[in-house]
Amino acid sequence: MNNVSKGKVALVTGGTKGIGKAIADQLSNAGIQVIITARTAPGESTAGQYFIPADLAQPESAETIAGEILGKYGRIDIIINNTGANLSPGGGFSTLSDEHWNNDWQTNFMSAVRINKALLPAMIEQKSGVIVNISTGAAKLPLWEMTMSYSSAKAALNAYSKALANEVATYGIRVNVVSPGLVKTPLMSEFIENLAKSSAVTSDEVHKSVIDKLNVPIGRMAEPEEIANLVTFLVSPEAKYITGVNYSVDGGALPTI
Ligand SMILES: NC(=O)c1ccc[n+]([C@@H]2O[C@H](COP(=O)([O-])OP(=O)(O)OC[C@H]3O[C@@H](n4cnc5c(N)ncnc54)[C@H](OP(=O)(O)O)[C@@H]3O)[C@@H](O)[C@H]2O)c1
Repeated sequence: MNNVSKGKVALVTGGTKGIGKAIADQLSNAGIQVIITARTAPGESTAGQYFIPADLAQPESAETIAGEILGKYGRIDIIINNTGANLSPGGGFSTLSDEHWNNDWQTNFMSAVRINKALLPAMIEQKSGVIVNISTGAAKLPLWEMTMSYSSAKAALNAYSKALANEVATYGIRVNVVSPGLVKTPLMSEFIENLAKSSAVTSDEVHKSVIDKLNVPIGRMAEPEEIANLVTFLVSPEAKYITGVNYSVDGGALPTI
């Protein structure tokens, strides 16, 4: 465990499963009070974590979450915008309707923009805070047949994060992006199952073909904790000079430097 400052309040959106859960668990294990959000409550509650139900694709959710956090804890030190999913079918441009584009945009981009807008005034007043936006390697390596609208929404998240980092740095607030490659999460299992069904092959074959297609040098998917390790470092005081950066954690999959 990295040295993370204690007595702080953190929000992890989508903190009930996968990467978000791994991040929430590492932060609460470090003594930070963690607020997790999702549409569905977690099966069991975890010490040091408080759940707020919310659909972040809905515009009104961010203000509700911010109001509850600031009302209950009076401050916010860390925001992890982790909510996201590839919501559209494969098949390329002609299969994507306006609704598909809008769903991906709301879930993967506007969710983070609205949460930050609702909570940044409190961070600015505190003159401190750290934000990590969870993007994807697919924003730099979009696959037209699988991730067109999702990659585009996450690419917007990357550009927004850089602009925001520049805007708020003088208030003592840092903003970074973490871009996972392939990670073993419920989202990934669902993606593989759906692809297997639509291509009439087994899940194991799809799993192998996805790793082969992305040519992952380390040769396997990441565990959620391997993404959380970097996020936990980035929100710690040790990372206090790091802002405006997009970090890949992808087993070497991105073929450029
Ligand atoms: N897994 C990968 O290989 C991979 C790779 C690159 C990037 N990422 C990114 O990493 C992040 C986490 O992915 P994951 O694989 O850990 O996903 P996951 O296992 O599906 O977990 C997603 C979390 O977000 C919540 N969520 C989803 N849609 C939501 C919505 N509209 N409103 C509120 N909460 C919502 C889910 O809970 P509910 O369903 O109950 O709402 C859950 O807590 C995402 O941003 C994803 O794009 C993942």
